[in-house]
Amino acid sequence: MKRVYLDHAATTTTDPEVIKAMLPYFTDRFGNPSSIHTFGQEGKAAIEEVREKIASLLGAKPEEIIFTSGGTESNNFALKGAAYANEHKGDHIITSSIEHHAVIEPCKFLEKRGFKITYLPVDKEGLVNPEDVKKTITDKTILISVMHANNEIGTIEPIAEIGRIAEEKEIYFHTDAVQTFGHLPINVDELNVDLLSVSAHKLYGPKGVGALYVRKGTRMASFMHGGDQERRRRASTENVPAIVGFGKAVEIAKGMMGEEAEKLTPLRDKLIKGIFERIEHVRLSGHLTIRLPNNVNVSIEFVEGESMLLNLDMEGIAASTGSACSSSSLEPSHVLLSLGLSPELAHGSLRFTLGRYTKEEDIDYVLEVLPKIVTKLRSMSPLYKERRNG
Ligand SMILES: Cc1ncc(COP(=O)(O)O)c(C=O)c1O
Repeated sequence: MKRVYLDHAATTTTDPEVIKAMLPYFTDRFGNPSSIHTFGQEGKAAIEEVREKIASLLGAKPEEIIFTSGGTESNNFALKGAAYANEHKGDHIITSSIEHHAVIEPCKFLEKRGFKITYLPVDKEGLVNPEDVKKTITDKTILISVMHANNEIGTIEPIAEIGRIAEEKEIYFHTDAVQTFGHLPINVDELNVDLLSVSAHKLYGPKGVGALYVRKGTRMASFMHGGDQERRRRASTENVPAIVGFGKAVEIAKGMMGEEAEKLTPLRDKLIKGIFERIEHVRLSGHLTIRLPNNVNVSIEFVEGESMLLNLDMEGIAASTGSACSSSSLEPSHVLLSLGLSPELAHGSLRFTLGRYTKEEDIDYVLEVLPKIVTKLRSMSPLYKERRNG
Protein backbone atom coordinates (compact mmCIF):
# COMPACT_ATOMS: atom_id res chain seq x y z
CA MET A 1 0.00 0.00 0.00
CA LYS A 2 1.14 3.53 -0.71
CA ARG A 3 2.14 5.29 2.50
CA VAL A 4 2.10 9.06 2.84
CA TYR A 5 3.29 10.69 6.04
CA LEU A 6 1.78 14.15 6.50
CA ASP A 7 2.19 14.59 10.25
CA HIS A 8 5.56 16.33 10.41
CA ALA A 9 4.38 18.78 13.08
CA ALA A 10 3.97 15.79 15.41
CA THR A 11 7.41 14.48 14.59
CA THR A 12 9.77 14.07 11.67
CA THR A 13 11.75 11.05 10.52
CA THR A 14 15.27 10.88 11.86
CA ASP A 15 17.66 11.80 9.07
CA PRO A 16 20.02 8.88 8.24
CA GLU A 17 22.96 11.31 8.54
CA VAL A 18 21.78 12.13 12.06
CA ILE A 19 21.73 8.44 13.02
CA LYS A 20 25.19 7.97 11.51
CA ALA A 21 26.55 10.89 13.53
CA MET A 22 25.02 9.54 16.75
CA LEU A 23 26.21 5.93 16.53
CA PRO A 24 29.84 6.37 17.69
CA TYR A 25 28.55 8.10 20.83
CA PHE A 26 26.75 4.92 21.83
CA THR A 27 29.88 2.81 21.28
CA ASP A 28 33.50 4.06 21.31
CA ARG A 29 32.78 7.62 22.46
CA PHE A 30 30.64 6.76 25.45
CA GLY A 31 32.42 8.94 28.01
CA ASN A 32 30.68 11.17 30.54
CA PRO A 33 31.37 14.81 29.53
CA SER A 34 32.09 15.67 33.17
CA SER A 35 35.01 13.21 33.33
CA ILE A 36 38.45 14.67 32.85
CA HIS A 37 39.91 11.70 30.96
CA THR A 38 39.97 11.50 27.17
CA PHE A 39 36.71 9.53 26.93
CA GLY A 40 34.92 12.25 28.85
CA GLN A 41 36.57 15.09 27.00
CA GLU A 42 35.54 13.64 23.64
CA GLY A 43 31.92 13.85 24.75
CA LYS A 44 32.42 17.33 26.16
CA ALA A 45 33.99 18.56 22.92
CA ALA A 46 31.12 17.07 20.92
CA ILE A 47 28.39 18.81 22.90
CA GLU A 48 30.21 22.14 22.86
CA GLU A 49 30.40 21.92 19.09
CA VAL A 50 26.63 21.42 18.93
CA ARG A 51 26.08 24.34 21.31
CA GLU A 52 27.93 26.52 18.82
CA LYS A 53 25.88 25.22 15.88
CA ILE A 54 22.56 25.91 17.60
CA ALA A 55 23.73 29.33 18.77
CA SER A 56 24.88 30.20 15.28
CA LEU A 57 21.47 29.34 13.74
CA LEU A 58 19.81 31.60 16.32
CA GLY A 59 22.28 34.49 16.17
CA ALA A 60 23.10 33.76 19.83
CA LYS A 61 26.23 33.01 21.86
CA PRO A 62 27.07 29.37 22.68
CA GLU A 63 26.93 30.03 26.43
CA GLU A 64 23.31 31.15 26.01
CA ILE A 65 22.21 27.64 24.96
CA ILE A 66 21.09 25.10 27.59
CA PHE A 67 20.41 21.52 26.53
CA THR A 68 17.12 20.02 27.71
CA SER A 69 15.08 16.88 27.09
CA GLY A 70 12.88 18.61 24.48
CA GLY A 71 10.38 21.35 23.82
CA THR A 72 8.21 20.55 26.83
CA GLU A 73 11.11 20.84 29.24
CA SER A 74 12.39 24.01 27.56
CA ASN A 75 8.97 25.64 27.97
CA ASN A 76 8.61 24.48 31.58
CA PHE A 77 12.12 25.75 32.30
CA ALA A 78 11.44 29.12 30.67
CA LEU A 79 8.16 29.75 32.47
CA LYS A 80 8.92 28.36 35.91
CA GLY A 81 12.56 29.47 35.83
CA ALA A 82 11.64 33.07 34.98
CA ALA A 83 8.64 33.13 37.32
CA TYR A 84 10.49 31.89 40.39
CA ALA A 85 13.61 33.98 39.83
CA ASN A 86 11.61 37.18 39.41
CA GLU A 87 8.73 36.83 41.85
CA HIS A 88 10.23 39.58 43.99
CA LYS A 89 9.47 41.94 41.05
CA GLY A 90 5.94 40.79 40.27
CA ASP A 91 3.53 37.93 39.80
CA HIS A 92 1.95 38.58 36.42
CA ILE A 93 2.59 36.57 33.26
CA ILE A 94 1.07 37.20 29.82
CA THR A 95 0.59 34.41 27.32
CA SER A 96 -1.83 33.56 24.52
CA SER A 97 -4.86 31.29 24.49
CA ILE A 98 -3.45 29.18 21.64
CA GLU A 99 -0.14 28.08 23.16
CA HIS A 100 0.89 24.43 23.17
CA HIS A 101 -0.05 22.48 26.31
CA ALA A 102 3.65 22.63 27.22
CA VAL A 103 3.12 26.35 27.92
CA ILE A 104 -0.53 26.34 29.04
CA GLU A 105 0.02 23.66 31.69
CA PRO A 106 3.06 25.27 33.36
CA CYS A 107 1.02 28.50 33.38
CA LYS A 108 -1.83 26.70 35.15
CA PHE A 109 0.69 25.23 37.58
CA LEU A 110 2.03 28.70 38.34
CA GLU A 111 -1.52 30.06 38.66
CA LYS A 112 -2.21 27.55 41.43
CA ARG A 113 0.88 28.82 43.21
CA GLY A 114 -0.24 32.43 43.24
CA PHE A 115 0.93 33.81 39.91
CA LYS A 116 -1.62 35.68 37.79
CA ILE A 117 -1.81 34.67 34.16
CA THR A 118 -3.46 36.57 31.31
CA TYR A 119 -4.36 34.35 28.35
CA LEU A 120 -4.66 36.78 25.45
CA PRO A 121 -7.31 36.09 22.82
CA VAL A 122 -6.39 35.78 19.14
CA ASP A 123 -8.23 36.95 16.04
CA LYS A 124 -10.09 34.63 13.61
CA GLU A 125 -6.82 33.72 11.94
CA GLY A 126 -4.98 33.01 15.15
CA LEU A 127 -2.94 36.19 15.40
CA VAL A 128 -2.12 37.80 18.74
CA ASN A 129 -2.48 41.58 18.58
CA PRO A 130 0.69 43.26 19.95
CA GLU A 131 -1.50 46.16 21.11
CA ASP A 132 -3.34 43.72 23.39
CA VAL A 133 0.00 42.70 24.88
CA LYS A 134 0.86 46.35 25.48
CA LYS A 135 -2.50 47.09 27.12
CA THR A 136 -2.29 44.07 29.39
CA ILE A 137 1.13 44.87 30.85
CA THR A 138 1.06 46.04 34.46
CA ASP A 139 3.87 47.02 36.81
CA LYS A 140 3.68 43.45 38.12
CA THR A 141 4.28 41.79 34.72
CA ILE A 142 7.48 39.74 34.77
CA LEU A 143 7.16 37.57 31.67
CA ILE A 144 5.47 37.41 28.28
CA SER A 145 5.29 34.08 26.43
CA VAL A 146 3.90 33.92 22.91
CA MET A 147 4.68 31.10 20.51
CA HIS A 148 6.55 31.74 17.25
CA ALA A 149 4.21 29.63 15.12
CA ASN A 150 1.23 27.58 16.18
CA ASN A 151 1.59 23.82 15.87
CA GLU A 152 -2.05 23.22 14.93
CA ILE A 153 -2.94 26.03 12.55
CA GLY A 154 0.51 27.20 11.44
CA THR A 155 -0.13 30.91 12.07
CA ILE A 156 3.13 32.81 12.55
CA GLU A 157 2.88 35.34 15.38
CA PRO A 158 4.25 38.93 15.29
CA ILE A 159 7.12 38.05 17.62
CA ALA A 160 9.44 40.92 16.67
CA GLU A 161 6.70 43.47 17.40
CA ILE A 162 5.82 41.90 20.74
CA GLY A 163 9.54 41.68 21.47
CA ARG A 164 9.93 45.42 20.93
CA ILE A 165 7.14 46.09 23.43
CA ALA A 166 8.67 43.69 25.96
CA GLU A 167 12.09 45.30 25.57
CA GLU A 168 10.70 48.81 25.94
CA LYS A 169 8.90 47.80 29.16
CA GLU A 170 11.90 45.73 30.35
CA ILE A 171 9.87 42.53 30.65
CA TYR A 172 11.32 39.13 29.81
CA PHE A 173 9.99 37.63 26.60
CA HIS A 174 9.83 33.91 25.83
CA THR A 175 8.83 32.30 22.56
CA ASP A 176 8.14 28.64 21.86
CA ALA A 177 9.92 28.16 18.54
CA VAL A 178 9.53 24.38 18.44
CA GLN A 179 7.67 24.50 15.11
CA THR A 180 9.93 27.08 13.46
CA PHE A 181 13.51 26.32 14.49
CA GLY A 182 15.29 24.80 11.51
CA HIS A 183 12.37 25.72 9.25
CA LEU A 184 12.27 29.52 9.29
CA PRO A 185 15.15 31.95 9.85
CA ILE A 186 15.36 33.04 13.50
CA ASN A 187 17.54 35.72 15.01
CA VAL A 188 17.07 36.27 18.74
CA ASP A 189 18.14 39.91 18.51
CA GLU A 190 15.81 40.71 15.63
CA LEU A 191 12.95 39.02 17.46
CA ASN A 192 13.95 40.68 20.75
CA VAL A 193 13.46 37.49 22.75
CA ASP A 194 15.17 36.59 26.02
CA LEU A 195 14.11 32.95 26.09
CA LEU A 196 13.40 30.61 23.18
CA SER A 197 12.49 26.91 23.15
CA VAL A 198 13.53 24.40 20.48
CA SER A 199 13.22 20.63 20.02
CA ALA A 200 15.29 18.29 17.82
CA HIS A 201 12.62 15.84 16.70
CA LYS A 202 10.74 18.51 14.75
CA LEU A 203 13.73 19.02 12.45
CA TYR A 204 14.75 15.45 11.60
CA GLY A 205 16.76 15.00 14.80
CA PRO A 206 16.23 12.48 17.60
CA LYS A 207 13.41 12.63 20.14
CA GLY A 208 14.04 13.56 23.75
CA VAL A 209 16.49 16.39 23.20
CA GLY A 210 15.98 20.12 22.87
CA ALA A 211 17.41 23.39 24.05
CA LEU A 212 16.48 26.63 25.71
CA TYR A 213 18.10 29.87 24.62
CA VAL A 214 18.58 32.14 27.64
CA ARG A 215 19.83 35.65 26.88
CA LYS A 216 22.91 36.54 28.90
CA GLY A 217 21.88 38.34 32.09
CA THR A 218 18.35 36.87 32.25
CA ARG A 219 17.46 35.98 35.85
CA MET A 220 16.43 32.35 35.84
CA ALA A 221 15.98 29.75 38.55
CA SER A 222 17.74 26.42 37.85
CA PHE A 223 15.46 23.74 36.52
CA MET A 224 17.20 20.58 37.74
CA HIS A 225 19.32 20.56 40.85
CA GLY A 226 22.22 18.18 41.08
CA GLY A 227 25.62 18.30 39.41
CA ASP A 228 27.41 21.15 37.69
CA GLN A 229 26.20 20.43 34.16
CA GLU A 230 24.85 23.27 31.98
CA ARG A 231 26.38 25.83 34.39
CA ARG A 232 24.29 24.34 37.22
CA ARG A 233 21.08 25.40 35.52
CA ARG A 234 20.09 21.96 34.35
CA ALA A 235 21.88 19.19 36.19
CA SER A 236 22.13 15.59 34.89
CA THR A 237 24.62 13.83 32.64
CA GLU A 238 24.17 15.14 29.15
CA ASN A 239 22.49 12.91 26.55
CA VAL A 240 25.57 13.02 24.33
CA PRO A 241 24.37 10.85 21.40
CA ALA A 242 21.09 12.77 21.16
CA ILE A 243 22.83 16.14 21.41
CA VAL A 244 25.25 15.09 18.65
CA GLY A 245 22.27 14.02 16.51
CA PHE A 246 20.60 17.36 17.22
CA GLY A 247 23.77 19.11 16.00
CA LYS A 248 23.78 17.16 12.75
CA ALA A 249 20.08 17.94 12.22
CA VAL A 250 20.76 21.64 12.76
CA GLU A 251 23.67 21.55 10.32
CA ILE A 252 21.48 19.93 7.64
CA ALA A 253 18.56 22.29 8.31
CA LYS A 254 20.83 25.30 8.00
CA GLY A 255 21.74 24.24 4.47
CA MET A 256 18.22 23.25 3.39
CA MET A 257 15.87 25.64 5.17
CA GLY A 258 15.36 28.18 2.39
CA GLU A 259 14.89 25.71 -0.42
CA GLU A 260 12.59 23.54 1.72
CA ALA A 261 10.22 26.43 2.44
CA GLU A 262 10.22 27.35 -1.26
CA LYS A 263 9.34 23.79 -2.20
CA LEU A 264 6.66 23.29 0.45
CA THR A 265 4.70 26.53 0.06
CA PRO A 266 3.26 25.67 -3.40
CA LEU A 267 2.54 22.09 -2.28
CA ARG A 268 0.71 23.42 0.80
CA ASP A 269 -1.31 25.80 -1.37
CA LYS A 270 -2.10 23.07 -3.86
CA LEU A 271 -3.48 20.92 -1.05
CA ILE A 272 -5.61 23.76 0.34
CA LYS A 273 -6.95 24.72 -3.09
CA GLY A 274 -7.56 21.08 -4.03
CA ILE A 275 -9.56 20.40 -0.87
CA PHE A 276 -11.71 23.49 -1.43
CA GLU A 277 -12.32 22.55 -5.07
CA ARG A 278 -13.32 18.97 -4.27
CA ILE A 279 -15.19 19.21 -0.96
CA GLU A 280 -18.00 21.61 -0.01
CA HIS A 281 -18.58 23.09 3.45
CA VAL A 282 -14.90 23.36 4.36
CA ARG A 283 -13.16 26.02 6.43
CA LEU A 284 -9.43 26.75 6.54
CA SER A 285 -8.09 27.45 10.02
CA GLY A 286 -5.16 29.80 10.44
CA HIS A 287 -3.92 32.64 8.27
CA LEU A 288 -3.84 32.10 4.52
CA THR A 289 -0.32 33.50 4.05
CA ILE A 290 1.22 34.31 7.47
CA ARG A 291 1.50 30.58 7.89
CA LEU A 292 4.10 27.84 8.21
CA PRO A 293 5.04 26.58 4.72
CA ASN A 294 4.07 23.02 5.67
CA ASN A 295 0.73 23.46 7.48
CA VAL A 296 -2.79 22.78 6.23
CA ASN A 297 -5.63 22.72 8.78
CA VAL A 298 -9.19 22.37 7.55
CA SER A 299 -12.49 21.79 9.27
CA ILE A 300 -14.87 19.68 7.26
CA GLU A 301 -18.49 20.07 8.29
CA PHE A 302 -20.71 17.09 9.14
CA VAL A 303 -17.82 14.67 9.68
CA GLU A 304 -15.72 13.74 12.69
CA GLY A 305 -11.98 14.39 12.47
CA GLU A 306 -11.26 11.06 14.16
CA SER A 307 -13.32 9.13 11.59
CA MET A 308 -11.50 10.85 8.74
CA LEU A 309 -8.17 10.14 10.40
CA LEU A 310 -8.89 6.42 10.75
CA ASN A 311 -10.15 6.18 7.18
CA LEU A 312 -7.11 8.05 5.88
CA ASP A 313 -4.87 5.73 7.88
CA MET A 314 -6.50 2.72 6.22
CA GLU A 315 -5.48 4.27 2.89
CA GLY A 316 -1.91 4.74 4.12
CA ILE A 317 -2.15 8.47 4.86
CA ALA A 318 -0.97 9.75 8.25
CA ALA A 319 -2.48 13.07 9.34
CA SER A 320 -3.71 14.53 12.62
CA THR A 321 -6.77 16.17 14.10
CA GLY A 322 -4.86 18.79 16.02
CA SER A 323 -1.77 18.64 18.17
CA ALA A 324 -0.29 15.18 18.64
CA CYS A 325 -0.94 15.32 22.34
CA SER A 326 -4.63 16.07 21.93
CA SER A 327 -5.35 13.67 19.07
CA SER A 328 -6.01 10.92 21.59
CA SER A 329 -8.38 13.15 23.55
CA LEU A 330 -11.98 13.84 22.64
CA GLU A 331 -11.92 17.42 23.85
CA PRO A 332 -12.14 19.87 20.95
CA SER A 333 -8.88 21.69 20.34
CA HIS A 334 -8.46 24.80 22.51
CA VAL A 335 -6.72 26.45 19.57
CA LEU A 336 -9.66 26.01 17.20
CA LEU A 337 -12.13 27.10 19.88
CA SER A 338 -10.02 30.25 20.41
CA LEU A 339 -10.44 31.09 16.71
CA GLY A 340 -14.20 31.06 17.28
CA LEU A 341 -15.01 27.67 15.76
CA SER A 342 -17.99 25.84 17.21
CA PRO A 343 -17.11 22.60 19.05
CA GLU A 344 -18.80 20.66 16.17
CA LEU A 345 -16.64 22.32 13.55
CA ALA A 346 -13.54 21.93 15.72
CA HIS A 347 -14.30 18.21 15.92
CA GLY A 348 -14.25 18.02 12.13
CA SER A 349 -10.71 19.32 11.83
CA LEU A 350 -7.86 17.70 9.98
CA ARG A 351 -4.23 18.79 10.03
CA PHE A 352 -1.79 17.83 7.29
CA THR A 353 1.80 18.86 7.87
CA LEU A 354 4.18 18.39 4.97
CA GLY A 355 7.86 17.58 5.27
CA ARG A 356 11.22 17.74 3.54
CA TYR A 357 10.49 14.65 1.45
CA THR A 358 6.82 15.30 0.62
CA LYS A 359 6.24 15.00 -3.12
CA GLU A 360 3.55 16.41 -5.38
CA GLU A 361 2.25 12.89 -5.94
CA ASP A 362 1.62 12.60 -2.19
CA ILE A 363 -0.61 15.66 -2.36
CA ASP A 364 -2.37 14.24 -5.43
CA TYR A 365 -2.98 11.00 -3.53
CA VAL A 366 -4.60 12.87 -0.60
CA LEU A 367 -6.74 14.84 -3.04
CA GLU A 368 -7.87 11.58 -4.62
CA VAL A 369 -8.61 9.76 -1.36
CA LEU A 370 -9.97 12.43 1.01
CA PRO A 371 -13.06 13.50 -1.01
CA LYS A 372 -14.18 9.85 -1.25
CA ILE A 373 -13.82 9.43 2.51
CA VAL A 374 -15.77 12.61 3.18
CA THR A 375 -18.56 11.53 0.79
CA LYS A 376 -18.74 8.14 2.48
CA LEU A 377 -18.85 9.58 6.01
CA ARG A 378 -21.33 12.29 5.06
CA SER A 379 -23.64 9.67 3.54
CA MET A 380 -23.94 8.29 7.09
CA SER A 381 -24.52 11.69 8.70
CA PRO A 382 -28.15 12.57 9.48
CA LEU A 383 -27.13 16.21 9.92
CA TYR A 384 -25.67 16.35 6.44
CA LYS A 385 -28.78 14.77 4.93
CA GLU A 386 -30.95 17.27 6.78
CA ARG A 387 -28.81 20.14 5.45
CA ARG A 388 -29.04 18.84 1.87
CA ASN A 389 -32.75 18.27 2.03
CA GLY A 390 -33.42 21.51 3.87
C1 LIG B 1 4.71 24.29 19.66
C2 LIG B 1 5.20 23.12 20.44
N1 LIG B 1 5.75 23.30 21.65
C3 LIG B 1 6.21 22.29 22.38
C4 LIG B 1 6.14 20.99 21.93
C5 LIG B 1 6.67 19.88 22.79
O1 LIG B 1 7.93 19.47 22.30
P1 LIG B 1 8.56 18.04 22.74
O2 LIG B 1 7.76 16.99 22.05
O3 LIG B 1 9.98 18.10 22.26
O4 LIG B 1 8.48 17.98 24.22
C6 LIG B 1 5.56 20.73 20.69
C7 LIG B 1 5.41 19.34 20.19
O5 LIG B 1 4.41 18.97 19.60
C8 LIG B 1 5.09 21.83 19.91
O6 LIG B 1 4.55 21.64 18.71
